[in-house]
Amino acid sequence: MTTELATNSMQTPFEQFLERQSEEAWAATLTTLLRSIHEVDKNATQIWFAFYPLSLFTALQQAEDKDQLAKQLLMQGHYELKDQIDSSHTFLYGHRYWPQVKKAVEAFAEGHDGDTGQLSDQVLEMARQTAARLKVDVSLLVGITAVAFMTIQQAGLAAFKNAAGAMLLDKKHANRSADQIISERAKDDSQGLFGFLKTIDKKWTVTYDENDAAAKYKMNHDQDMAWGASDDRTRNWREIDPRRPEGPIPVECRSASCGTCWVGVLGGAEKLSDVAVREGKKIKEFGYIDTNEPKPLIRLACQAKTYGAVSIVIPPWNGVFGKHLRSVKQTSEEGLE
Ligand code: FES
Repeated sequence: MTTELATNSMQTPFEQFLERQSEEAWAATLTTLLRSIHEVDKNATQIWFAFYPLSLFTALQQAEDKDQLAKQLLMQGHYELKDQIDSSHTFLYGHRYWPQVKKAVEAFAEGHDGDTGQLSDQVLEMARQTAARLKVDVSLLVGITAVAFMTIQQAGLAAFKNAAGAMLLDKKHANRSADQIISERAKDDSQGLFGFLKTIDKKWTVTYDENDAAAKYKMNHDQDMAWGASDDRTRNWREIDPRRPEGPIPVECRSASCGTCWVGVLGGAEKLSDVAVREGKKIKEFGYIDTNEPKPLIRLACQAKTYGAVSIVIPPWNGVFGKHLRSVKQTSEEGLE
């Protein structure tokens, strides 16, 4: 308790304001903000918030032995935002404006008096000011500004300020317009002149990094995304990430048992198979998403079959924490009764 109080007293008013924002407050904020987020970043922003859940961060922070809990939750890879302040959001279109957004949010944080205004209003106002300065549509900055706020909440203002604030895309990709990206996501592979007659031998492209022209693989119609990825021998995957024994998608069990293969779907979620009972049950158990939607934005690649071209994003970590977070929530609700 003493340590917590000491830490709190060293926090800036903005950090104290953010610390009062719960997972539920952020979920409500995100719902409000989505109305103002450009089409190109609507899915990306929701995926980013699923990749970096506040409740998991809080549980690890409050654990008596954080490393022990991480081990218990089978955490693998890079799950802490403090280690990827500039790089966690390269799949958002708004990443292009990260240097300016980061600077503007830092200045806003410095001048913050810790007031109790709505979180969504503050994100929107910040995005509006930056958009006016940059002369770009505000809808392109709302998602990335929300990401900046959450990054400060999890990484702390000092670490946030210490990050270089770099935009990590090459010039060619950074220059693409939002409309270009949206229309690329909507494209399907041509199946040749008589493609409409094909039934089983159709091939579809999976794009797993929209900012790398070579980050694509072909897969068969009705094949799950993880099997399709395993034929991709273009890189030494294990060297890039030990969670990737073959192909760009990390895998272990291939049977919805381990949670290693989760991905976010930026475009083409409607072209994947519906979530079957086992995938739906296990994805909740892992803690990645809690929904009964048939085609959500977060999927297990070893279960989702492809019936068209899709664009996905691969998170840099995996774990099994759904059950743990539910029991933490239950204990804290019982404590309030
Ligand atoms: S590889 Fe284990 S859940 Fe998909």
